[in-house]
Amino acid sequence: MVLNHKLTNDEHSYGWGPVIMHWLIALAIIGLYPLGWYIETLDYYDPAYRTIPVWHKSIGIIVAMVLAVRLIWRSFNKPPAPLPQPKKMVIAAKIAHALLYLLLLITLISGYLISTADGRAIELFNLINIPALPFAIDNQEDIAGLIHFIVATILISLAAIHAIAALKHHFIDKDITLKRMLALREE
Ligand code: HEM
Ligand code: HEM
Repeated sequence: MVLNHKLTNDEHSYGWGPVIMHWLIALAIIGLYPLGWYIETLDYYDPAYRTIPVWHKSIGIIVAMVLAVRLIWRSFNKPPAPLPQPKKMVIAAKIAHALLYLLLLITLISGYLISTADGRAIELFNLINIPALPFAIDNQEDIAGLIHFIVATILISLAAIHAIAALKHHFIDKDITLKRMLALREE
């Protein structure tokens, strides 16, 4: 196996552009989930109350930006063809990937709606302000908060199953599914 030198996907391999975006988003989600739980344990007088939510929201906004690039990229540069395996597995993987994108989108939007429910902008690392929508619904913070928690939990659970599937491909089926997502390709 050698490192793929291509930026874009081709019919057989993922280019390192989509690979870097995949792993950035994956790492961020794995970090954001416990950080979100931690936010819930903080009270107003805790010094971390001033920092941890800013970190959670700012990393989340960066995930949203990377996801936007990734989805636009994907519409122009399709992922490689599925590796030979039963049709049912190919369909299951496609559904799981589409669901991961959808759950991620809902988590990000609901996070934005919690944070901007009182009309205040989100500070991206205290550098840039992301403005709130000019309107809000009654109980927006609570409703968006509930959706955020439930959907983020489904997202992290599906991501765990997805990761187990990737490891099964690697260690049991011994195919190149995981290697492809690490920008490795056959010589
Ligand atoms: C994929 C990305 C994200 C994940 C996995 C995630 C996960 C979580 C989790 C698990 C919680 C704890 C919820 C609870 O226990 O009720 C939480 C809380 C929170 N998240 Fe996120 N989050 C993400 C992105 C965002 C974004 C983009 C924002 C805002 C811009 C955001 C804003 C918040 C806020 C304000 C809370 C506190 C909730 C509350 O006070 O009800 N999150 N997040
Ligand atoms: C934690 C959050 C994660 C999310 C949201 C996520 C999401 C995704 C998505 C949406 C795809 C489809 C890519 C596309 O074709 O557009 C994908 C592919 C892939 N992911 Fe993840 N992933 C995560 C974590 C992981 C982890 C931890 C592993 C490995 C242990 C992994 C291994 C793979 C592999 C190998 C592929 C390529 C699958 C194929 O070629 O059929 N992912 N991931």
